[in-house]
Amino acid sequence: MLKIGIIGCGFMGTMHANCYKNIADVEIVALADLRKECAEKLAEGTNAVIYGDGKELIANADVDVIDICLPTYLHSEYAINAMEKVGYLFVEKPIALTNEQASQMMKKAEETGCNVQIGQVIRFWDEYVKLKEIIDGGAYGKIVNANFRRISPVPTWGWNDWLLKSELSGGAAQDLHIHDMDYVLSLFGIPNKITSIKNIIGEKNSYINSLLSYDDFVVGVEGTWGLPETYPFDATFRVVFEKATVENAGGKLMLYTENTAQEIKIEKAENLGGGFEGGNISDLGGYYNELVYFTNCAKEKLSINKATLKDGAESLNYVLEEIKNA
Ligand SMILES: NC(=O)c1ccc[n+]([C@@H]2O[C@H](COP(=O)([O-])OP(=O)(O)OC[C@H]3O[C@@H](n4cnc5c(N)ncnc54)[C@H](O)[C@@H]3O)[C@@H](O)[C@H]2O)c1
Repeated sequence: MLKIGIIGCGFMGTMHANCYKNIADVEIVALADLRKECAEKLAEGTNAVIYGDGKELIANADVDVIDICLPTYLHSEYAINAMEKVGYLFVEKPIALTNEQASQMMKKAEETGCNVQIGQVIRFWDEYVKLKEIIDGGAYGKIVNANFRRISPVPTWGWNDWLLKSELSGGAAQDLHIHDMDYVLSLFGIPNKITSIKNIIGEKNSYINSLLSYDDFVVGVEGTWGLPETYPFDATFRVVFEKATVENAGGKLMLYTENTAQEIKIEKAENLGGGFEGGNISDLGGYYNELVYFTNCAKEKLSINKATLKDGAESLNYVLEEIKNA
């Protein structure tokens, strides 16, 4: 039985706890949150020991792996501390707030040999995994252009409103848009050229739109969390190939050719129940997939080769450049 400790029991800590409760041979044995009532809620159905500050868990808990779901500005400090304790560590995305913090994390991982996975979950999201398979398969010819979009109501659930303070979260570009940028970079690498615009009005309206030029195609990537509370969270893509177009929109992955329009059916993990009320995500699928991968690596003592610390650091570096030059 793999013994899990979760630090930060807000929106993502709840998602992760719900996933672990559905994964075989893992057990949540420790939970930490400054708001102890959040940790106690997640402890239901487990025998987990409750801690306040995450450092108490790191110092005292009997765990095999640690999962950090703290606000972004705390990732590096707690991750570096946790790497001294466990051989497998999961850190939510974005890896950190600054490149310097990310470098310190890489240095500590080298020193300790800790295997670290970053929560760049889109690499594990079923529709996006399928798209990668289609691209790699090459059946529809070269890519002509592509578009990725992630738009959300204002994220008001964060503890002490940390998400709305860009000096703590990095704003929509670093927090939300990094999902698509990380995925696009994982597919196509660094573009030859990028042109970006951003528009930030006060704490709540944060928008970025970038056009990435590769040798023979262009990719648009748009992200914002400036929408009203009533607007449904939406993550979509459309990839135009020479011989077909693949689109993920309205809850369907579709393949369009000159003569046919057909849905691409995906085998998904069964419905695992809801996440955290008030957040902007209801599907646990990608989170479940990434944590199945993470816990398997920990159980089998394998290296983490997907959504690595290095991947997280590279995506952060690229998005910080993008924001600077927008
Ligand atoms: N992968 C995704 O799709 C996704 C989605 C949302 C958030 N995130 C990331 O997950 C991380 C957490 O975000 P969230 O939305 O869960 O935030 P949140 O505010 O809902 O939760 C953070 C929790 O950390 C607790 N906390 C703060 N300091 C602490 C400390 N020192 N010790 C113990 N607990 C402490 C807070 O009380 C709070 O409950 C962020 O990095 C965010 O960017 C990822």
